[in-house]
Order: sequence, then structure tokens, then C-alpha cells
Amino acid sequence: MDKIEILFDEKKINSRVKSLAKELYKKYGDEEVVFVCTLKGAVFFACDLLKNYPGDARMEFLRVSSYKGIETTGTIEMNLSISKENIQKKHVVIVEDIVDTGYTLSFLNEYIMKMKPKSLITCTLLDKKIKRVTDIEPTYTGFVIDDLFVIGYGLDCDGKYRNLPYIGYLKK
Ligand code: IMP
Ligand code: MG
Repeated sequence: MDKIEILFDEKKINSRVKSLAKELYKKYGDEEVVFVCTLKGAVFFACDLLKNYPGDARMEFLRVSSYKGIETTGTIEMNLSISKENIQKKHVVIVEDIVDTGYTLSFLNEYIMKMKPKSLITCTLLDKKIKRVTDIEPTYTGFVIDDLFVIGYGLDCDGKYRNLPYIGYLKK
């Protein structure tokens, strides 16, 4: 096993996820919200976020990929889509694991907007702000991080490490 430096432990993640869920509930109150989880990376975050969200929630899944190893390819592939009736005229929250260049989030935003939601916002657990090349900004962010390739809590490196309960990075 490679040496991993922990950035956010379970306790820290849990408390931030709880406060994000609270903020979102404050925003929507009793209105129904469709949470769109992007597979596979955001799955742990989306599940924990929804478990802590006391309001009227639905869950949808999208699958997109842009990374090979630790490099972004810039081209986004969609492998799983959502049908329009699950989005149209609904409040939608895109749930992402991490925003890096912003290509993926821009792509997802455009894709959902075409289905005419009542409103659309984004909620990402992590934001690598300094790497942004698009002008998209997530509406809600768990933690802003430096330019590190992070793993754990759903985030992978070539499919590995998603099952770690914390978020860390590989030490060289
Ligand atoms: P973007 O399109 O460059 O913003 O990249 C976003 C996607 O790339 C995320 O949804 C992740 O799936 C993946 N990604 C970006 N940075 C990392 C990282 O540090 N660790 C693991 N996956 C990452
Ligand atoms: Mg992702």
C-alpha cells in the first residue's frame, strides 16, 4: 500500500457534510429537490448528504468520465443519462466530488439546463480552485484544496482507493 497523507478525516468530513445538508435544507425547506449524483466519485458524498437532508428529496445518477490516471483528458464522456421528466420543472442540485478544471461541471450544467429545471445549483465536496480553466463556480463547496491529486471517500486513482473513509493524497 502506498503512503497516504490524510487531508480530511472521517470526523471532519461528517461535520462538513452535515452542515452542507443543513444549508441546503434552509434554502429549499419543504420544496422537493432532485439531487443528481455523478458516478462514481460523488457516490459516498451524495449518500451522506442525503442521509443528513431532512427535506423532500429524490436522487438521480449521471455517469461521466474525463480522467485517465491523474491527468484530465479534457473530453467528457457520458455513460449514463437521466430522462427529462425527472428534471423538468424541478429544483435540481448537481452533487460532485471535486471540481478541478471545471469542464465536467460545465458539461453537467449544460446537460441539465437543456431539460429545463425549475432551478439548478451545484454542490461539490472539494474544489481545486487554482486549477480552474472555465468560468464555472460551484454554488456550495465543502472544502477548497490545493493542487493535489486526492483519493478516498469515493475519489479514485485509476479505480483504486475509493473505499478509504478519509480523503488524502499519495505521498511521493
Ligand atoms: P474537471 O472536469 O477537470 O473539473 O474534473 C472533475 C472530475 O475529475 C471530478 O469529478 C473527478 O472525478 C476527477 N478529479 C479531478 N481531480 C481529482 C482528484 O484530485 N482526485 C480524483 N479525481 C479527480
Ligand atoms: Mg466526479
